[in-house]
Amino acid sequence: MQTEINLRVDGTDRQVTVDTRTTLLDALRERLANTSPKKGCDHGQCGACTVLLNGRRVLSCLVLAVTAGGKDVVTANGLAPDGELHPVQQAFLDNDAFQCGYCTPGQVCSAVGALDEFRRGWPSHHGDTELTRAEVAERMSGNLCRCGAYTNIVTAVQQAARA
Ligand code: FES
Ligand code: FES
Repeated sequence: MQTEINLRVDGTDRQVTVDTRTTLLDALRERLANTSPKKGCDHGQCGACTVLLNGRRVLSCLVLAVTAGGKDVVTANGLAPDGELHPVQQAFLDNDAFQCGYCTPGQVCSAVGALDEFRRGWPSHHGDTELTRAEVAERMSGNLCRCGAYTNIVTAVQQAARA
């Protein structure tokens, strides 16, 4: 069954007709030509597809596009709308927090969401009240990096938190 949905993607209103089984990830990549979120596992296990949905980080491969109708979707592209990098993006650059870059858009969106959750006082399983390296690692644990850039990713998230 096909249905028409309206999404606000990276600040632009978009209208698209999708099969009701289409994921948000596929709608973004295949229908709206936004290839910022990446398809890694397509099973909710790697975090490469992370976007912000109404400000909260979600795995777009696990969200049906129809449930995102009328909502605000921000990908890593949308974090730098006028070419000025978001503090998280700048921190990833400053700290060389990537190698191939495939996981990076998801890492960046996840970090933005994680820092917002921390500011709101949402607890993690780790339980540190400061953004220690262990606390950052816990809060970013849903985002895998096959290049193993974790050390610099954690440093970048800590820098972004200070910014
Ligand atoms: S592609 Fe969505 S979690 Fe891996
Ligand atoms: S930088 Fe290559 S997968 Fe993370």
